[in-house]
Amino acid sequence: MQLIIVGTGGMAAAHAEKFGKINGVKIVGATDLDGGRLKDFCDRFDIEHRFLSLDEAIAWGGFEAAANVTPDHVHYDTTMALLKAGKHVFCEKPLATDFAKAQEMTDTAKQEGLVGMVNLSYRDVPHIHVMRKMVEGGELGAIKHVEASYLQSWLVSNAWGQWDKESQWLWRLSKDHGSNGVLGDVGIHILDFASFGIGQDIANIDCRLKVFDKAEGGRIGEYKLDANDSFAMTLEFGNGAIGVVHASRWATGHLNELRLRVHGDKGALELVHKPDETILRGCLGDDVNDAKWRDIDVAPGRSNYRSFVEAVGRNSQMEPSFEQGAKLQKVLDLCLVADETGRRQGV
Ligand SMILES: NC(=O)c1ccc[n+]([C@@H]2O[C@H](COP(=O)([O-])OP(=O)(O)OC[C@H]3O[C@@H](n4cnc5c(N)ncnc54)[C@H](O)[C@@H]3O)[C@@H](O)[C@H]2O)c1
Repeated sequence: MQLIIVGTGGMAAAHAEKFGKINGVKIVGATDLDGGRLKDFCDRFDIEHRFLSLDEAIAWGGFEAAANVTPDHVHYDTTMALLKAGKHVFCEKPLATDFAKAQEMTDTAKQEGLVGMVNLSYRDVPHIHVMRKMVEGGELGAIKHVEASYLQSWLVSNAWGQWDKESQWLWRLSKDHGSNGVLGDVGIHILDFASFGIGQDIANIDCRLKVFDKAEGGRIGEYKLDANDSFAMTLEFGNGAIGVVHASRWATGHLNELRLRVHGDKGALELVHKPDETILRGCLGDDVNDAKWRDIDVAPGRSNYRSFVEAVGRNSQMEPSFEQGAKLQKVLDLCLVADETGRRQGV
């Protein structure tokens, strides 16, 4: 598979590393509007063809698929251009900045007969697939209660760089720069994690979003800092289970941590995923009586990058698909409405 990388910023390195290790994949080109970033990236990953615009790359045409690693608000235009040029697309999350655009991307990929996948990265955590199988196998009984959180602390630590100086963090804090805040950035991951883990779509939501003051006048240079930094939501799933989901960039003491607790009438599971470890533990069978928890061994799984390569190879859709990206986008849009109106939203 001949692949190009569109957008050569922070996350693009992960794409180059992961795709670069897959047999049969050749990263033939890359494109970025920033010439310096493009050159450093292509030199580092030994990429031959370099383009300062996606139009130039499409006019050249020597590729069948693209990894779209541009900022959130750029996903729609670039993905649509790629699909219309007949290229398969592996797009970063969130698929778009609103449901209408995400749905149009989904429909276009279908109409053109192309693979459209969205990088919901935590599907790469094999533990979530074990949870899903155990839930589907009935080991937890009927799921009643779900607790999920995604905690980051880049607004209070320097572990990921300097948020108040680097564009890659500043655009994430600004609505004008196409960000839906922590909700669009990592809320989409934890909503996917929770709904995939229990195999249920989200039926309705209540949500509160919060923007905290973080710079004088609420602005740094061209960036108005008005996108949400924390959210707290309650939700109901298709099977009637109720849940609480929250995320923050102010979660002091947690670099990047997803936690999912699922409680059924026969058992419970807890999954914690951190940069240095992932744990799945269960309280099942007779252990329910004395609330005893045991670790569950999990074998390695397959990454989204590999799934995309396989999907392109056999020209058939695999998960996580654009369709799933659009479904989650609808929930994100409704969270904004719920916050504005204070009213529960049916999905
Ligand atoms: N799946 C994950 O876990 C995960 C993690 C981090 C980031 N992301 C997503 O990846 C995307 C990129 O994030 P990032 O942190 O790398 O951002 P970034 O700002 O570091 O990089 C984006 C790059 O895209 C370039 N760009 C902008 N418009 C372009 C265009 N029209 N054509 C080509 N290049 C263009 C920018 O110049 C920049 O170099 C975002 O959508 C983000 O949400 C996903």
